[in-house]
Amino acid sequence: MKHLVLIGLMGAGKTTVGRVCAGRLDRAFVDTDDVVIALGGGAPIEEIFAVGGETRFRELERAAIADITASPAPLVIACGGGAATDAENRRRLRRAGVIVWLQAPVAVLAERVGNGATRPLLAGGPVAALTRLEAAREAAYEAAADITIDTEDRDIEAVAEAVVAAFAGVEP
Ligand code: S3P
Repeated sequence: MKHLVLIGLMGAGKTTVGRVCAGRLDRAFVDTDDVVIALGGGAPIEEIFAVGGETRFRELERAAIADITASPAPLVIACGGGAATDAENRRRLRRAGVIVWLQAPVAVLAERVGNGATRPLLAGGPVAALTRLEAAREAAYEAAADITIDTEDRDIEAVAEAVVAAFAGVEP
């Protein structure tokens, strides 16, 4: 049985929707950011970026994804927004999982992330940063995704329902 993997930009709802999907599927939920923090010795993401830069963060993220995807129990996995931009991560996630891309327009994402205080890549202002990241990442998300779900006008429960239904179509 394959993992259910959620990808997309910051504010897409990967963590909140992932938790609901995990409940519905009776699976454990794992957020790659939590495993990054654990592998980094407990320091929060902002500190990992401040001390070792994005390079160190991505190194830990690759290790986290290798660990998580190796789980023999099928999981629901919420990926940090940049995880699927790495080719090695994409290979692992695609091999072990069905990948769902949660989409929303930048204005909606920006509203959801608020001031982005805990997300170093939003430091220059969420709208500008998310616009840049969307342009840079769209092709990678598209290459990774088995399923794409529009989250703009749906609440968390409705998105989770759409994700679980689409997942069941691929992984009955
Ligand atoms: C990042 C997204 C964050 C976190 C880190 C970098 C990104 O996760 O992994 O701040 O590169 O988009 P969320 O997408 O869960 O906010």
